[in-house]
Amino acid sequence: MSDTDRIMAEIRRLKAEKNAVILAHNYVAGEIQDVADFVGDSLELSIRAAKLKADRIVFCGVRFMGETGKLLSPDALVVLPAPDADCPMARMASAPAVRAMREKHPDAVFVAYVNSTAEVKAQVDICCTSGNAERVVASIPPGKEIVFLPDRNLGANLMKKLGRPMILWDGCCPIHDQVTPEMVKRARTAHPGAPLLVHLECRPEVVALADAAMSTAGMLKFVQESAAEEFIIGTESGILHRLGRENPGKRFHALEPELICRDMKKLTLPMVLEALKTGQTPVELARELQTPAADAIRRMLEL
Ligand code: 13P
Ligand code: SF4
Repeated sequence: MSDTDRIMAEIRRLKAEKNAVILAHNYVAGEIQDVADFVGDSLELSIRAAKLKADRIVFCGVRFMGETGKLLSPDALVVLPAPDADCPMARMASAPAVRAMREKHPDAVFVAYVNSTAEVKAQVDICCTSGNAERVVASIPPGKEIVFLPDRNLGANLMKKLGRPMILWDGCCPIHDQVTPEMVKRARTAHPGAPLLVHLECRPEVVALADAAMSTAGMLKFVQESAAEEFIIGTESGILHRLGRENPGKRFHALEPELICRDMKKLTLPMVLEALKTGQTPVELARELQTPAADAIRRMLEL
């Protein structure tokens, strides 16, 4: 038995002993995805967290994902195996800055991408993920001013798709924002005919060159339903594990090999084992944030 197999066996034993559930994002290391009870995109993980009856949830993703899990499953012990794994984009909007923006736009509807802190979620009207952003923005009455934060690229892509003006925060995902039209041209030349799927966090000029732009769950669905045999994937490399495992007859080419989120890669299998064993590090949220932040997430889930 390899070390990895031994750790996985111990994780499975402890999960049962502690009535624990492991949730993992599509970007974490493949071996963590393999031992998780559920792997998904941010929207799917939120829906799952809202329905869970576990005593302990080990959230394998970045901090905002664990916070969302805690907001939706407040009675469970929600544990982050790598507490310093944080989404840099989520740090690009602070609660005081959002409050200041609210003073400038008192009648606007504030929409926060879930890639934001719980403090920021507590300041907004509704959340969205890349999987439901279109539906969320389309649900806002026409003529209402909208402030969208923190991802300027997702916001700009939505404005284009829906033909709806929005005031955009100046944040972005450092990984997806580095994708350029030149990279697209190179990948298209190397893999002619392969559909190019990119994440909605890419810049609009990149999205314009892609065959489809969507969330990570959207990519998995697109590939399953497509007759194509190879694909160019423009998002964080962790998704390639699931794409390969669930589609054994198909081939996947990373748009760029460096599309790696260092924070997602901070999580390791031994850390997951340790988190299960010790319950460290729990997500703790200030009491006054819980209701307003959870309400903003619930409003999106109700749509
Ligand atoms: P998903 O909404 O596809 O889960 O993406 C989250 C994310 O962090 C993308 O960088
Ligand atoms: Fe945040 Fe980008 Fe990493 Fe997603 S890939 S967690 S948006 S830094």
